[in-house]
Amino acid sequence: MKNLFDLSNKVIAVTGATGVLAGGAAKYLQEQGAHVVYLGRRKEKVDEALTEALKISKNCLGYTCDVTDQTSIDNVHKNIIAELGHIDVLINGAGGNMPGATIGPGKDVFDLDMDDYSKVLDLNLKGTVMPTMAFAKTFKAQGSGCVINFSSMSAAQTLTRVLGYSNAKAAVDNFTKWMSTEMALKYGDGIRVNALAPGFFISDQNRALLINEDGSYTERGQQVINKTPFRRFGRQEEVFGTIHFLASDAASFVTGSVIPVDGGFSTFTGV
Ligand SMILES: NC(=O)c1ccc[n+]([C@@H]2O[C@H](COP(=O)([O-])OP(=O)(O)OC[C@H]3O[C@@H](n4cnc5c(N)ncnc54)[C@H](O)[C@@H]3O)[C@@H](O)[C@H]2O)c1
Repeated sequence: MKNLFDLSNKVIAVTGATGVLAGGAAKYLQEQGAHVVYLGRRKEKVDEALTEALKISKNCLGYTCDVTDQTSIDNVHKNIIAELGHIDVLINGAGGNMPGATIGPGKDVFDLDMDDYSKVLDLNLKGTVMPTMAFAKTFKAQGSGCVINFSSMSAAQTLTRVLGYSNAKAAVDNFTKWMSTEMALKYGDGIRVNALAPGFFISDQNRALLINEDGSYTERGQQVINKTPFRRFGRQEEVFGTIHFLASDAASFVTGSVIPVDGGFSTFTGV
């Protein structure tokens, strides 16, 4: 039987490919033989990622792409088709939080900054929906394609303080299920839409929130560890396998799933 996990010749476009999780996954997928398109918001970061990617193989392209900007998304989509002729997988890795969309220490819910709240919804929700809609047109034409979204532990359970991001990621879960159903019912079983829900991984965005400068956990970091049966944060490479699985033919009957990659956080009550 063929290797179900073979990614060679698959074209995989990754938004947020200059970040920790999606960026690491993009490199990993290229190492496995995929042709990877690195999409990032800032040109200098995309250039940096591409320089690194070229050390792996020639199977890479890079474009600037702001996932909240329809024109930017449409241009990138057009360029990929012009260069490579098809697209197999879209990974919606761009996302993140903003201080104003959270309830800071000493503040309460009424201090929420609605502008930042909207920006966080735009980045995490529309920044997932808009690229998916653009690329799904190609998936429809091809009769095949795969979308992998990034959810979060904040989608299904309440994380104190994190309002905008939680609302957006809960909607990403819902969109993942909704879009998977719509695609399958209208265009058949070749198009799959799934998500992974990472637990807590250290990135530039959350480092100061979870880890002190001396390497010890902050109070909040310790609370997370207390509710994680593995008693540690995730390591970047621990999302790669789930993404590889979802992108590959091994997941040909998997759609509408949101897979936790969380050291047990989502199943543990903490007691
Ligand atoms: N790190 C974690 O613990 C964790 C947990 C759950 C979910 N996630 C999700 O995983 C994904 C990757 O996060 P990460 O931890 O690697 O963070 P990261 O900050 O390293 O990566 C996020 C990337 O998104 C990019 N980005 C931001 N705004 C953008 C825009 N408008 N257009 C295009 N790109 C934009 C950033 O430049 C950055 O490269 C995000 O969706 C995040 O919400 C992370």
